[in-house]
Amino acid sequence: MKTDARGNPVTTNSDEAIVAIDRYADTAIALKPGMDAVVAAADAHRDCAMLQACAASLFATAQSSAIARRGHSYLERARARFADLTDRERTFIDAVGAGCDGDFDRAIALYEQIASLWPRDLLAAKLAEFHFFETGLARRQLALMETIAPANSDSSHAQAMLAFAYELNAMRPQAEEIARAALEREPLTMWAQHCLAHVWAGESRIAEGIAAMKHYTPTWNRFGQYIQSHNTFHLATFHRAELDFPRVLDAYRRHIWGFQPDAVVEQTDAILLLWLVELAGGDAGTRWREIAPHLRKRAHEQVFPFLNAIFFFALERAGESSEVDRSLDAMRRYAENLAGPAAQVWADVGLSQARGCVAYARGNYDRAAELLGRVLPAISIGGGSDEQRGVFHETHFMSLIKAGRKADANAALASYVGARPATKLDHRWLRLASA
Ligand SMILES: [Fe+2]
Repeated sequence: MKTDARGNPVTTNSDEAIVAIDRYADTAIALKPGMDAVVAAADAHRDCAMLQACAASLFATAQSSAIARRGHSYLERARARFADLTDRERTFIDAVGAGCDGDFDRAIALYEQIASLWPRDLLAAKLAEFHFFETGLARRQLALMETIAPANSDSSHAQAMLAFAYELNAMRPQAEEIARAALEREPLTMWAQHCLAHVWAGESRIAEGIAAMKHYTPTWNRFGQYIQSHNTFHLATFHRAELDFPRVLDAYRRHIWGFQPDAVVEQTDAILLLWLVELAGGDAGTRWREIAPHLRKRAHEQVFPFLNAIFFFALERAGESSEVDRSLDAMRRYAENLAGPAAQVWADVGLSQARGCVAYARGNYDRAAELLGRVLPAISIGGGSDEQRGVFHETHFMSLIKAGRKADANAALASYVGARPATKLDHRWLRLASA
């Protein structure tokens, strides 16, 4: 028995296995490059069950059911040692297994157990955070991060996760205070910078957001491609709020698309940025066609409905309507065979969400407005962050505008802008809705 860097006991006699676990946890939590090194380490230390589970967790968070299946052989190796393991290790392995099976509710429940009993397991909290993203369960996310916070007051990354959970619950003053404390402890806490970007966007603090993100930019290349691209995505959305489309599209070309085009995280940032440009009145040009070839297989998977909706929209904008029809049919058949909470996610919300986005892309604005309007109040259960889900609200009120339903559009727009000050982009929309 040895202990990892957070003081959690690990069943192994190998110092190398512990180094590999610590390195994986550090890359996952601090968003550094090199997460995938855990796979070779797991292959080299097959008798370390936790290392096998760490490798499987890489696949569980890939946002692809085909990739998640690659975790099963690592979980089998981990379970072969079950009798020798601690309760934390067993619970962790079960949680990762649930994640690989696409059972995010079960995974979250198990990570909640770990948070209560072994709060120093920060990797478990980070993996839980990912499944919360896929399920939109922001209140439980905040509860988990509050549970682990006292035991992790030494970690800026734990602070950043707590801050982001506050943000997702629209508790932005608390989110900002804790994110700033995290950055005071460790300025290179990428997730805290990211949290502040969400706060600034949520409060229309556009100039402040641009200045701060530009100030942070020079250090981003020390971190993983995902967070470099995603934090650039946030900077680009500030430029969009100023209607500065050349800067948005420059960010797309130089920092967001074309690095790991088969990674869902990159596809998500690229699709949403182009979609947001179009919703704001800009022109995404032919860029949809460079993304589409990387989406065709993924569009047939059912991981969480947010992904289906954005994949279908992108494929439709690339002119691949028959591919969209086939993918929509696969989603319908999957949704119709579900029961209980999963049926609510996929059949009650997800299908209408996806159909509404496709209807908008096809110019069927009345239908898009009807379908999206019906599901918007519950759309968080389909996954995605608060800011990412804004694309569905914007598509809804643009559908109303384009359908000529100006009064409804005004009401939807007022509800979307809420109490935050109107940006240049909001003023453009307000003019469109009242023209
Ligand atoms: Fe974000």
